[in-house]
Amino acid sequence: MTTTRPALTIDRLIDELKTLAAISEAEPPVVTRVVYSKADLRARAYVKGLCDAAGLSVCEDAIGNTFARWQGSEPDLAPIGTGSHIDAIPNAGLYDGCVGVLGGLEAIRVLQQLGYKPRRSIALVIFTAEEPTRFGIGCLGSRMMANVLTPEQARSLRDKEGRELEELRVAAGFKGPLESVALPEGRFHQFIELHIEQGPLLEQEGIDLGLVTHIAAPASMRIILEGEGGHAGGRLMPGRKDALTAAAELILALEKAARSTGAIDTVGTVGVCDVFPGAVNSIPSRVRLETDVRDIDGARRDRVLDSLRAACDEVASRRGVAITTELVNADPPATCDRAILEALEKSAVAADKTFKKMVSRAYHDSLFMARIAPVAMLFVPCRGGVSHRPDEYASPEWICAGVHVLSRTLAELAS
Ligand code: GLV
Ligand code: MN
Ligand code: MN
Repeated sequence: MTTTRPALTIDRLIDELKTLAAISEAEPPVVTRVVYSKADLRARAYVKGLCDAAGLSVCEDAIGNTFARWQGSEPDLAPIGTGSHIDAIPNAGLYDGCVGVLGGLEAIRVLQQLGYKPRRSIALVIFTAEEPTRFGIGCLGSRMMANVLTPEQARSLRDKEGRELEELRVAAGFKGPLESVALPEGRFHQFIELHIEQGPLLEQEGIDLGLVTHIAAPASMRIILEGEGGHAGGRLMPGRKDALTAAAELILALEKAARSTGAIDTVGTVGVCDVFPGAVNSIPSRVRLETDVRDIDGARRDRVLDSLRAACDEVASRRGVAITTELVNADPPATCDRAILEALEKSAVAADKTFKKMVSRAYHDSLFMARIAPVAMLFVPCRGGVSHRPDEYASPEWICAGVHVLSRTLAELAS
């Protein structure tokens, strides 16, 4: 990996990342920032303050997507976008999403300090709820921007306490009509998202940067199992309809289906298992599973979902447990734009950084921005490939390389 002396501004960026991380619903170093929570609103205020201080004009849409614009000399031209998200799953670290937001801001400030004047405006975008924690669906803000989730579908979303998205976003201060969130194709000229890799390859191979060519296709299926509860002592084993033992079979069935494609790119996870009533001496009568299945090949991913549905039918009839499935989302993969990738490559060479083309197995707001604009992503390494954990780490040097190449590329695209 090429080593460069971090530019002076990296200290400011790392300080800001740490300050943002301290705005959390959990004790440091754990970052938890669920959309529309107090921590999310405080974090938004902090980032908007930094954008104001950089002279960017800030506005928000009705779902809370935030746009901080550095006006170009031809303000009528569609802007170049960059950015990511600042919400964080429970028990997260401080780099996921935030490197793309604060790194994007730093890239803009570096260009300002160099005296560069963009022809196209450059817009930093902070997307609402990239993480699915609260409403069960990932990339809420960008999904609505691309009109993949319609206002009507958004209005039907609730969190697990049963509170409606509509009520929560208004309480958070986002009041306009949801119909105004969708943007037409062409509103952004091009979009680049800087992000940590969330995988081990760049670090293992000693490479500075990943140029993302494709983003894998994510899907999520909710499974509700209804059995029969009762006394854990009094009710004997024959004839039980335990919803949790039925769910256990489905968890293993998903693992088997994902492994059986033989492709390293197929992954299946059950990240949520809610058990009712959740008492040690009570047979589980109701279970909710939230499953996540991904692949770079959308058809192969869909075959895994089909196997899971078949397992649901089989387990339901054998165990006498009612099982219903709801496909929460099944999105196609995205292909990154060749011209942006070429610009990133040119900037990486000029900055003397090593790079490799790679696939993103995580999803990102760019998956949905790709529906309305040419996009590309720039990855920086993260230690051990660890992400979605408090020990997530990217070194200042790695982040500095990403910001450096992002700023050069923004300058080229906005000229
Ligand atoms: C994004 O956070 C993902 O789960 O890929
Ligand atoms: Mn994430
Ligand atoms: Mn992310």
